[in-house]
Amino acid sequence: MQDTHAWSGRFSEPVSELVKKYTASVTFDNRLAEFDIEGSLAHAAMLNKCGVLSDADLAAIRDGMGEIIADIRAGNFEWSVDLEDVHMNVERRLTDKIGDAGKRLHTGRSRNDQVATDIRLWLRAQIDTIVGFIAELQTSLLDLAEANADTVMPGFTHLQVAQPVTFGHHMLAYVEMLSRDAERMTDCRKRVNRLPLGAAALAGTTFPIDRFYTAQLLGFDDVCHNSLDAVSDRDFAIEFTAAASLVMVHLSRLSEELILWMSPRVGFIDIADRFCTGSSIMPQKKNPDVPELVRGKSGRVVGHLIALVTLMKAQPLAYNKDNQEDKEPLFDTADTLIDTLRIYADMMRGITVKPEAMRAAVLQGFATATDLADYLVKKGMPFRDSHEVVALTVRHAELQGVDIADLSLEKLREFSTLIEADVFTVLTPEGSLAQRDHVGGTAPNQVRAQIARHRARLAG
Ligand code: ARG
Repeated sequence: MQDTHAWSGRFSEPVSELVKKYTASVTFDNRLAEFDIEGSLAHAAMLNKCGVLSDADLAAIRDGMGEIIADIRAGNFEWSVDLEDVHMNVERRLTDKIGDAGKRLHTGRSRNDQVATDIRLWLRAQIDTIVGFIAELQTSLLDLAEANADTVMPGFTHLQVAQPVTFGHHMLAYVEMLSRDAERMTDCRKRVNRLPLGAAALAGTTFPIDRFYTAQLLGFDDVCHNSLDAVSDRDFAIEFTAAASLVMVHLSRLSEELILWMSPRVGFIDIADRFCTGSSIMPQKKNPDVPELVRGKSGRVVGHLIALVTLMKAQPLAYNKDNQEDKEPLFDTADTLIDTLRIYADMMRGITVKPEAMRAAVLQGFATATDLADYLVKKGMPFRDSHEVVALTVRHAELQGVDIADLSLEKLREFSTLIEADVFTVLTPEGSLAQRDHVGGTAPNQVRAQIARHRARLAG
């Protein structure tokens, strides 16, 4: 048999070097090796249980695979492009080591169901890692929220000062987003965790197999119930990449805020030096490189989502070689997301909050105007009327260059005689916060309650 053909002697000429490189996946799919071996060992055990593979062959396969794993971990496994992909590299090495037993491993199996199984095993492990790192980032955001449960900052809409919130409340918004992200990952895992093996090339196999046994050995919750679907669809990978894109989009939003807050023009926070770089020409510069890169890398992950959706969309059943292109986007999505989450958890621990600057911004922005309107409503004025009264009050204060809290009671009463001395308790930022005392509101005690809820959830 010619060595240039890993699959058969059917061909009359070898592929060109360029085609060989173009069609091979081993340069990137070799990172699936340990999952590939795990799947092969379960497949072999199942064949043995079903009387298709002898005890001696199973024992030889186990020994051989043990050696191969050791070689891979020691960096002694030489991957060959001639053997196209991780599956054929491992199988050939096994056969070199143990002879015919190695050649029997592929009974009742195809690379089509094999690769689909490998990706699912790999992705399941990535999801578990990601869910762990999301929790770690949430913990670091909760610590920051707790330290700033009373820290007043302007809440913005349209990037204009709107109403006072606490910095802790603002951080909790991201904790909420990340909670949904973790839920999405966990939900996606359910559909990842189903076994394709047994589908073989596309139609199933003539051997008396027990797919549920293989599933059980590999920790899958179920088997894929249609062989054509099992080998061809990558919806689970698309779903994961969509969930990953949303995590990146959430972190991109937070990054945008960190960048803005660190600008000397805003000055709400400082980011620890280890996450920033200087300029080669401007000695005064300290640039928020890490948040900027996270914002940039979110585009890369969203790009992978588009790549995978597009990869899938015109494929007829069942397996097509197109699917080999699923791996690099998927690998890079997981790698990028994991690195981003890890670095972010550490970066949020290194944030210095500047409460004076935040408070000054609240006072400059008439942030308690809504509180005055609500105050008038509680004294009996219809809201639309109070809105107008306050608009006139704000205009006056703005012309005077002062906050509405700085106007005298006498002056305020020129706008409405419903205003009394108790108005000043709602016109301060702290008064404004304290009044938003309901689930989901920014009152410091509500912020503390949410922190406790999240901590209990993460501990449980
Ligand atoms: N390297 C291939 C992939 O990644 C494995 C499956 C190939 N199957 C085939 N019949 N060519 O998808």
